[in-house]
Amino acid sequence: MPRALSQLLRQAGSSQVLINRLLPVCGSIRSAQNELRWLDERAQGVALNCSNRRSHGSLLEEFVTRRAQHEPLQYILGSEYFGELEIKCRPGVLIPRQETASAVSHLASLLAGPGLLPPRLRIVDFCTGTGCIPLLLHHELSSQVDNNRTELELYGIDISPSAIDLAQENKRLQLDSRARDVAPGHQSLERMRFELADLFRDGDISSHSEMDVLISNPPYISPADFETKTEKSVRDFEPTLALVPTKTDARGVVTGDEFYPRLLHVAQQCGARIVLMEVGDGAQAERVCQLAISQEVWDVIEVWKDEPSASCGNEQESASTPDARRIRVKGRGKARSVFAVRGEGRGWVGLA
Ligand SMILES: C[S@@+](CC[C@H](N)C(=O)[O-])C[C@H]1O[C@@H](n2cnc3c(N)ncnc32)[C@H](O)[C@@H]1O
Repeated sequence: MPRALSQLLRQAGSSQVLINRLLPVCGSIRSAQNELRWLDERAQGVALNCSNRRSHGSLLEEFVTRRAQHEPLQYILGSEYFGELEIKCRPGVLIPRQETASAVSHLASLLAGPGLLPPRLRIVDFCTGTGCIPLLLHHELSSQVDNNRTELELYGIDISPSAIDLAQENKRLQLDSRARDVAPGHQSLERMRFELADLFRDGDISSHSEMDVLISNPPYISPADFETKTEKSVRDFEPTLALVPTKTDARGVVTGDEFYPRLLHVAQQCGARIVLMEVGDGAQAERVCQLAISQEVWDVIEVWKDEPSASCGNEQESASTPDARRIRVKGRGKARSVFAVRGEGRGWVGLA
């Protein structure tokens, strides 16, 4: 991706000034130089397509100012990579994170393994945001599973109209980037649906009363952690609705855990055989595992770390929960998600 700075920037001799403005937010000269290249490239691209005839120079000035005020680079550049997919981003919708992509890819690799999948695999992603999770899962699964034997059906649900609009745009971009009708899974991508709904309202999600796989990266940060531990660029620019639960627990407090009992309840009700939920840290992972254990329906419960695929021969049992022997910990990095399987789902992911 690195490119030479544009002629305009070199002629103006202004690159050092702009690098200096980016330095506080970027932390190092190398990173400021890289970001300036990307902002410059973006300014050139927008200037070429701009119907309101803004100049490259004024666009670059605006982008550097926004970035110097800690706006995430992805909102200014307009996209972020999620696995192999370039996902469109814009303010108002959470920027997809690499750790989420690693868990999704790991799940895809398990589902695409030697296990036998059912003729129809229905996957729902609650709290879908940009739609990155179902889009990546579809991208990885449709190229690896036999599309004639397993029909993929994917849904993304979100309460935010901006998220659903963007998820639909991202689906359209993926469709446009594929060779029409020839690419494997083209039809299942066309069938993918993004729906505006509140996870907590039974009526909103009643059309998903039968599902096979439930995935979610829900809001999971407590208000206290949001104020004290979240980066400024996240706090000031990413939507709080995506980060901090708006629900309270039974005591009227927001702990950050509010979505998990509901997600596990919905998973049980809709017959999901596999559930994968992102969590914030090891302590939250243990609390979510306890909730899953208390349902008494899951045969296998695992905690996946940031890089769950780096787990070969490295699996361990969770040390500090009372039911430690029932929980396997996989991978390298921080605890990142809780994965649970039951019934025939074990066969789908090679755990039979
Ligand atoms: C952490 S973001 C995850 C976005 C995306 N799945 C990702 O991984 O990048 C959480 C999402 O949950 C959505 N959300 C918040 N409350 C919700 C609710 N009650 N029902 C459905 N979606 C909700 C937010 O709008 C936000 O898009």
